[in-house]
Amino acid sequence: MKACLIEAPGRTRIVQYYPKPRLDQEHNALVRVYAAAQNPPDSFSTRQDPGRPGHMMGSDFSGWVDQLLLSGEKRTTMTTETTGKSRFDLEVGDRVCGMVLGNASKGSGSFAEYIATSSDLLVKVPDEIRMEEASTFGMSLWTAIQALHFKSNLEWPIRPPKKKGERDQPDEILIWGGATSVGMFAIQLANFSAFKVVDVAKSSHRELLETYGADIIYDYSDRNSIERLMDENRNVALALDCVASTSTVEECIGLIRREGGHVHHVLPMPPDFQNPRQDQVTTKFSLVHSMLGDNMSWSSYLFKEPIKETEVRKDFEMAKKWFSFDQGYVYQLIKEKRLKQLPVKISHVFHHTEEGLKLMDCDQLRGQKLVHILQS
Ligand SMILES: NC(=O)c1ccc[n+]([C@@H]2O[C@H](COP(=O)([O-])OP(=O)(O)OC[C@H]3O[C@@H](n4cnc5c(N)ncnc54)[C@H](OP(=O)(O)O)[C@@H]3O)[C@@H](O)[C@H]2O)c1
Repeated sequence: MKACLIEAPGRTRIVQYYPKPRLDQEHNALVRVYAAAQNPPDSFSTRQDPGRPGHMMGSDFSGWVDQLLLSGEKRTTMTTETTGKSRFDLEVGDRVCGMVLGNASKGSGSFAEYIATSSDLLVKVPDEIRMEEASTFGMSLWTAIQALHFKSNLEWPIRPPKKKGERDQPDEILIWGGATSVGMFAIQLANFSAFKVVDVAKSSHRELLETYGADIIYDYSDRNSIERLMDENRNVALALDCVASTSTVEECIGLIRREGGHVHHVLPMPPDFQNPRQDQVTTKFSLVHSMLGDNMSWSSYLFKEPIKETEVRKDFEMAKKWFSFDQGYVYQLIKEKRLKQLPVKISHVFHHTEEGLKLMDCDQLRGQKLVHILQS
């Protein structure tokens, strides 16, 4: 198969004859990839850890189930247990989307004609969604779900369902970096949980972000706007920092209400980072890949303490509730037209990969997701 590999720091290479991934018990579904959306780690992994020459690139994908393996036997159709209560049917030929571990190994990456993954984490693509759009329901959506629902304890589904303004106080959430891909999904999730969404993004994205459900937007490129945000004493107990520089994390901590709260950040802080309000505000960083249930040893350099095997298992079990084919919450939210995909910009990876990666580097993709089409 064709695949895109890291060749050397800053350089990628398309190889024409790369071995197709083999199925095993954990990675029991082979998917023929149609489209693969690009994420910042695809770009920075070509230059720094965990990317190494020979590692396969890409995490997000949409495509068709090509082969399934159950109990060591190849199947053309299968039925899988999900939570023990419900069952779902996944068949060869089904349209699916999801995420794999990209840029960190020689055997896995979505910028390739085929990927192997767990059949438990394949989301069914509803008929009315185009495959290129479906490829955007990958890493950034998973990151937002992990940050808000797995690590910051947002309940889902909410019972009884609530409308905006019907939450108990505090009812505001701060999303710093609302125009990031993670941010655009986080805004939607916060809406489903009936939060009023306070967003930090350039005001040029206002119209777009309002379509995702942002309520109030402060412009980070306008100091007056940020000072207004600081002065307003908003009732925020939870913040998600989708930019996660030390200064944005500090600003988020400062914006948590007097009584205290929590800030989740999507990148690790340097070892000497000090939380200026550690008695009132907790902070956490997590890595989306723990939801895949795989060994996380490659990521140990990002954490002060190694991620526990039990945490990975817990994330994987929770991920199944969100991503199991047509039984997971994500399929239902897409099907009901509540969860919206990201705006896409199309590229053809096997002709223009370098150009695509440069585009991401040059920040020319604001408010858009670059999607590579892998099949002609
Ligand atoms: N923890 C994990 O497992 C995990 C997983 C995936 C991604 N990440 C990380 O999460 C971050 C976001 O990823 P993404 O894919 O969502 O990024 P993205 O879509 O590429 O984000 C680009 C956007 O960032 C905005 N931005 C830049 N600086 C900003 C600032 N100071 N304040 C507010 N907005 C700012 C820009 O918005 P404007 O146009 O408004 O300037 C730009 O549109 C990346 O650093 C990525 O590496 C972490």
